[in-house]
Amino acid sequence: MSKDRPHAVVTGGGGFVGSHLTESLLDANRRVTVLDNFGSGRPENLASVESDHLEVREHDICDPLPAFTDVDELYHFASRASPEDFASHAVEIALTNSEGTRNILDAAREHEAKAILASTSEIYGDPDVHPQHEQYNGNVNIRGPRAPYDEGKRFSEALAVAYEQQYGIDVRTVRIFNTYGPRMRTDDGRVIPNFLTQALTDEDLTVYGDGTQTRSFCYVSDLVRGILAVADAPPDRVAGEAINLGSTDEIEIRALAARVLNVVETDAALTYESLPQDDPSQRRPDITKAKELLEWEPKVTLEEGLRRTLEEFRKRV
Ligand SMILES: NC(=O)c1ccc[n+]([C@@H]2O[C@H](COP(=O)([O-])OP(=O)(O)OC[C@H]3O[C@@H](n4cnc5c(N)ncnc54)[C@H](O)[C@@H]3O)[C@@H](O)[C@H]2O)c1
Repeated sequence: MSKDRPHAVVTGGGGFVGSHLTESLLDANRRVTVLDNFGSGRPENLASVESDHLEVREHDICDPLPAFTDVDELYHFASRASPEDFASHAVEIALTNSEGTRNILDAAREHEAKAILASTSEIYGDPDVHPQHEQYNGNVNIRGPRAPYDEGKRFSEALAVAYEQQYGIDVRTVRIFNTYGPRMRTDDGRVIPNFLTQALTDEDLTVYGDGTQTRSFCYVSDLVRGILAVADAPPDRVAGEAINLGSTDEIEIRALAARVLNVVETDAALTYESLPQDDPSQRRPDITKAKELLEWEPKVTLEEGLRRTLEEFRKRV
């Protein structure tokens, strides 16, 4: 790996978002070290990335980082994010977002590097403010089944604030709203991979609740463009900030199901199951801050994003 390029460490770089982020960082002239335990990620996600500037290491981020001579940027994207894993991997998720975040922040301190933390719209819980802006403190059930993830991410942000206050390090937090795209696990459990996999195997699409709950879906290339804009912005604009990144194109889940059926060109039916506990009923980011600070907004339409995702899913399902 050439030392001429800034060195970025990406935790979770073998996952869905992390692998796209890694590719974009390499394109943006960084050298990248991926640290991933490959719990939910897959080495294949990086198989097509051919670069002399990439190193992939199997490493659990709950352990201190390997010794590096220099680090310029730390991207903390490790964490299972699928609701399917919230019960079976509850402790791992909570620790990845606490011990793991601590290890990242210690490394940021040691190397005087900037840290970019992946937070989530789940920190707003089942929101009673709509759309959700960054000043909203959220409505999270601290003892519910989603708590290890939701509260884990809230603690991750709180720990970042503590390090900023006490040690003056540069941490930038992205609050990611539902994002989808190629390389998501087909058995991921999140709604778009679920629907695509079911539609491609001629199964009925499973809708939880009556399907009137809403989400807004951001295509992964738009998200990654936003993450890089956050990383590249001058510190006086974004250091210490939490910034929503997501699509404002809100859609009911039953309407999303209809769009998927249309894109896949199948006439499968919908089946309905009960809504999981604490499932948010409405979800849409207020992205005014990202627009003002970064001139960022999503560009890829849901139709186009679904087509691109479908193309890649067809090869795997
Ligand atoms: N995709 C979304 O819609 C979305 C929304 C909000 C937030 N996020 C956040 O973005 C990040 C990436 O999510 P994703 O959707 O790509 O999920 P993913 O499961 O595809 O990726 C997570 C990656 O982290 C790795 N990982 C998990 N725990 C680890 C640990 N302890 N040590 C090392 N590696 C570990 C996994 O193996 C995987 O490669 C997560 O922090 C997630 O909370 C994603």
